[in-house]
Amino acid sequence: MDIVVENVNCMLAARTPFYQKVIDRISLHIPAGQFVAMMGPTGSGKTTLGQMIGGLIPSHSGVIRIGPYRVNKKTDRRRLWKAIGFLFQFPEHQVLEDTVFTHIGAGLHRLGMRREWVSEQVKQAMEAVGLCYSQFKDLSPFQISGGELRRIALAGVLVAEPEILILDEPTAGLDSRERSRMLSYIKRIHDENKMTVIYITHRLEEALEYADRILVLDHGRLYADFHPCKIRDHWPRLERIGFVKTPLLRFIDALEKRAAEPLPESLYKEEQLMSFIANLSREDL
Ligand SMILES: Nc1ncnc2c1ncn2[C@@H]1O[C@H](COP(=O)(O)OP(=O)(O)OP(=O)(O)O)[C@@H](O)[C@H]1O
Ligand SMILES: [Mg+2]
Repeated sequence: MDIVVENVNCMLAARTPFYQKVIDRISLHIPAGQFVAMMGPTGSGKTTLGQMIGGLIPSHSGVIRIGPYRVNKKTDRRRLWKAIGFLFQFPEHQVLEDTVFTHIGAGLHRLGMRREWVSEQVKQAMEAVGLCYSQFKDLSPFQISGGELRRIALAGVLVAEPEILILDEPTAGLDSRERSRMLSYIKRIHDENKMTVIYITHRLEEALEYADRILVLDHGRLYADFHPCKIRDHWPRLERIGFVKTPLLRFIDALEKRAAEPLPESLYKEEQLMSFIANLSREDL
């Protein structure tokens, strides 16, 4: 289902002297299946917009549509609950059930689904995030590491088989090994299930590596919207709001300064850079 955001606003403390516009006239179209990275400085409105799309906070004006449904319409909300999975920042803080199994299957249990079916769904969701069902299902959340808990929280979102996944900084606070593990599971889930992913992050290297599109918010407005291959065109504007070049972008810049011709714009991922360098002739180097 496509996501359509039309002229949406969100205000805090409306009609008071402390009035603040957190989301300011944003319009967007996200086609089904796209992997979108949402970036921007702290306080720019990423979480707020993500939660508005997920139906967790209402917009004060404008319209958000998911496929044929309107997010804020009560009757449509009921149809939408299963379509959208939202992973909060630091979701492990909200793991409250006794065991991994009951945490992941809690929502399905509450709906009165058959136990065998719930077990199968939980098993599949755990396998999708690289957790062995028999090894982890009966453990208490207190017996496992923070990185595993993060993956369990992701499994708890995946278990309902949503079509749209909204992830609020899913790799924040993880060590580099757990971060790349988490990212590779998210990428695989996206590719295999053709899900739409809205991936909120401060990490430009993750956005460049995995996203089909980068949205940048600043002061509640949509500041930039581009394909990762256009990163170098957008750089001067991004720098103005505090973006810092990744080591890979710095390397590409240095290479470009020495190159006789401009480098191809498709050069923004590590793999592409490696094959570009491998194909350079001795004279080029
Ligand atoms: N419940 C709230 N009460 C008061 N202000 C809030 C609340 N939620 C958000 N804000 C304000 O709204 C603005 C946008 O916040 P939001 O959390 O969406 O930003 P963000 O881009 O996700 O930031 P971060 O990168 O730090 O997570 C900020 O100025 C924030 O202080
Ligand atoms: Mg946030």
